[in-house]
Amino acid sequence: METNHMDCRASIGVFDSGVGGLTVAREIMRNLPKEHIVYFGDTARVPYGSKSKVTIVRYARQIIHFLRTQDVKAIVIACNTASALALDEVEKELDIPIIGVIRPGARVAVSATRNRRIGVIGTESTINSHMYQKLIYEEDPAITVYEKACPLFCPLVEEGWLKDSVTKEVARRYLDELLEKDIDSLILGCTHYPLLRSLIREIVGEKITLVNPAYETAKELGELLKREGLENPDEPADPPATEPYRFFVSDMAEKFGHFANSILPYDIETIQKINIEEY
Ligand code: DGL
Repeated sequence: METNHMDCRASIGVFDSGVGGLTVAREIMRNLPKEHIVYFGDTARVPYGSKSKVTIVRYARQIIHFLRTQDVKAIVIACNTASALALDEVEKELDIPIIGVIRPGARVAVSATRNRRIGVIGTESTINSHMYQKLIYEEDPAITVYEKACPLFCPLVEEGWLKDSVTKEVARRYLDELLEKDIDSLILGCTHYPLLRSLIREIVGEKITLVNPAYETAKELGELLKREGLENPDEPADPPATEPYRFFVSDMAEKFGHFANSILPYDIETIQKINIEEY
């Protein structure tokens, strides 16, 4: 098959409200090692999780505009809130593939559940959008979805309190309600929550399947690239000829760097700050 070499060697644009989307970038790096990434973290305007659809759609449009200047071949909305609120709007406007994290997460939860009772946790805006519920019902209307916003989780993760007793207490308060519903699968519907996986596991026990949409999104991205003939055919060079992963933020580059280096398997050298309002 004839492939467009210029296109397939272009990067994947990945964006999030800040650092959390690095959990998605990390899965793309692990699962699709030939792909290059341009990551944008909107650190000037984080959090998205308490904002309205109108605002998030405006932000997403600006970020996509910026990513296009970096010559990307596909875009991943790593942020659950932006996937829930903006994907429907922006995908109509684009001529390159774009995916969010919600559909992949919903799909895997549908295939994981045995008793058809799924829990979803996320930011206030994600939960209020009921997007996980909607996409789960599309796959199987007989499933019951129980949703719970957990707004305190993000600041606790960013504080680094991943195993702290305070975080555990907060998690218990949030999750008890879902556990009473006898769920057998729980979607970690926010970029930060996979980092709380072991703490959440302690609270919910071994019987509940924890669904990480980040991992599923990387898998779905791989399938999409293959389908569209957009896979990068080049083996990763050692050392790489060009920087395979590039990072941009709208503020606080240094803080972003510290957090990024605790999440990613290697240390980031350069992070460029841009004025996203110009796009
Ligand atoms: N990235 C956001 C999400 O996945 C969490 C942080 C925020 O509220 O901006 O929903």
